[in-house]
Amino acid sequence: MSLRRIAGVTLLVSAMFLLTGVCVADELRGGLLWDKWWKVNGSPAPTGDHPLYPPEGSRTGDTTFRCKECHGWDYKGVDGAYAPGSSHFTGIPGVFGTTLSAGELFDLIKNPSSTTPNGHDFGTFGLADFDIQDLVDFLLIELIDTDLYISQQGIFQGDEVMGEEDYNNDAVCRVCHGTDGTNIDFDPPDGVYVGTIASENPWEFIHKVRFGQPDTAMPSWIQRGGSDQEAANIGRHAQFNLVGGTGEASFFEDGFESGDTSGWSGQAPPP
Ligand code: HEC
Ligand code: HEC
Repeated sequence: MSLRRIAGVTLLVSAMFLLTGVCVADELRGGLLWDKWWKVNGSPAPTGDHPLYPPEGSRTGDTTFRCKECHGWDYKGVDGAYAPGSSHFTGIPGVFGTTLSAGELFDLIKNPSSTTPNGHDFGTFGLADFDIQDLVDFLLIELIDTDLYISQQGIFQGDEVMGEEDYNNDAVCRVCHGTDGTNIDFDPPDGVYVGTIASENPWEFIHKVRFGQPDTAMPSWIQRGGSDQEAANIGRHAQFNLVGGTGEASFFEDGFESGDTSGWSGQAPPP
């Protein structure tokens, strides 16, 4: 995609936002913060390693401050895609099905472990109270059981024909990513496309479709009124029909890692 085209798309989307006065609902902004919070709230990227990041983990630096890095794109931590064998393995449990109250969640995310057990200390690292509130809303409202939409083998469960219709519908995906998915290469010049991500990391894919891509013009499917099953249908279309999609879960072979966005390690998921 040419720069002019990207700028045009950005302008178009900004204009739509201005005209309709739409702003991102809090729990949807929380989903973006889950992905990479400092791209969303404009804080400086954190430095060093997060104090809860365990020595068993293989990552260092700012990525250890991303919620998804410890708890997964599937929100299931060690019980999901970041199980033993994954390069993202930390042994940390997920957040799906949490029974903590809004107040407990808020304190856990904000406070240091000296005042709250397992406290994450994000109040110090760069999250404002309203950011934390958005994360709490995300945790309470928007967590889904990804197993309903993605098989253990990493295949999207859905209707690829309906997915193709939505993908190509005005301003949904095609306008930016192209009919065959090659307008934007996420890792130039390697040719990592929408279809590639759908095959290599379907959990990341559905999260990014539902909430959008932080700090880019890519909008949230949920905000548009789309359902989770429809997001999975789009994933199915991308996995089976777009360039880079293999029609199977390619993470069994080799994992692309954009560092910023892709999380799959190249390991098979747990049985
Ligand atoms: C460096 C790793 C790490 C990062 C990054 C991280 N967490 Fe955690 N999280 C943990 C650990 C460790 C626990 C405690 C797990 C346990 O109970 O053993 C935890 C627990 C939780 C729980 C409690 C789940 C429950 O029901 O017990 C929630 C909710 C949570 N984290 C949310 C978040 C959010 C939101 C972010 C991003 C702002 C985040 N975490 C980032 C390591 C991390
Ligand atoms: C307004 C333009 C726009 C629309 C509409 C859009 N995207 Fe994106 N998308 C982007 C941009 C820009 C990026 C970030 C590219 C980068 O980081 O290099 C992106 C990133 C992505 C990524 C993450 C790639 C990675 O780095 O892991 C996926 C997956 C994706 N888009 C899929 C979709 C799907 C599916 C749709 C439709 C539901 C969609 N996008 C709609 C512009 C858009």
